[in-house]
Amino acid sequence: MTPHLAAPKGAIAETVLLPGDPLRAQHIAEKFLKDPVLYNQVRGMLGYTGTYKGRRISVQGTGMGIPSANIYIHELIEFYGCKTLVRVGTAGAIQPHLRLRDLVIAQAACTDSSLIPLRFRGQTYAPIADFELLYKAYVQAKARGFPAHVGNVLSTDTFYPEEKEVYRPWAQYGVLAVEMEAAGLYTLAARFGVRALCILTISDHLLTGERSTPLERQETFDQMVELALESVVAS
Ligand code: HPA
Repeated sequence: MTPHLAAPKGAIAETVLLPGDPLRAQHIAEKFLKDPVLYNQVRGMLGYTGTYKGRRISVQGTGMGIPSANIYIHELIEFYGCKTLVRVGTAGAIQPHLRLRDLVIAQAACTDSSLIPLRFRGQTYAPIADFELLYKAYVQAKARGFPAHVGNVLSTDTFYPEEKEVYRPWAQYGVLAVEMEAAGLYTLAARFGVRALCILTISDHLLTGERSTPLERQETFDQMVELALESVVAS
């Protein structure tokens, strides 16, 4: 048990999918995992363990933003020995060539969070994905004909910025989309020597103001989950 996860050691698989929304964790467990067992309800942050194509897999909600997500990620790695962590989430596009429902496989993650300057005495660290997971996800996405982009994302601490102009420099330097957790995940994974990947679907376009409907979000979310599961069983 940890302060936030009421599961005995061994109840959580080495491979964990990490949606922000705990109800998405429940949806993934019920739709994709065989014999899912609920191991956590503390703070409503649902976590389940089951199997997918014979591989033991857990799915754990993380909440929104690096401070919340990193509590769960830290405890999963340090206390439960998790070795492969794949975030599945949504992002807002900041490049004109991205479309609603496209997939973004985050090769790296910039951040406006104090996470990195605090850990690195004001210097810049570049959090990156595990290459093998990234490669497998890209190959699986192409094989399925999913529109997938590989590149940099911005993990922001601010969902409602004062002005959208704050994204301009990131966009000018090629960042594809904005989300809220990947840089925290990649930094902790590096610190503890485990593998991590973040796969995102574009739920809204921050340049045009377009948003996908709840039904579209659900369908694209399911495609992304399938991609994440196939990538981890292949690697
Ligand atoms: N900002 C941060 N995270 C997000 C957004 C956004 O606009 N859209 C989806 N996730």
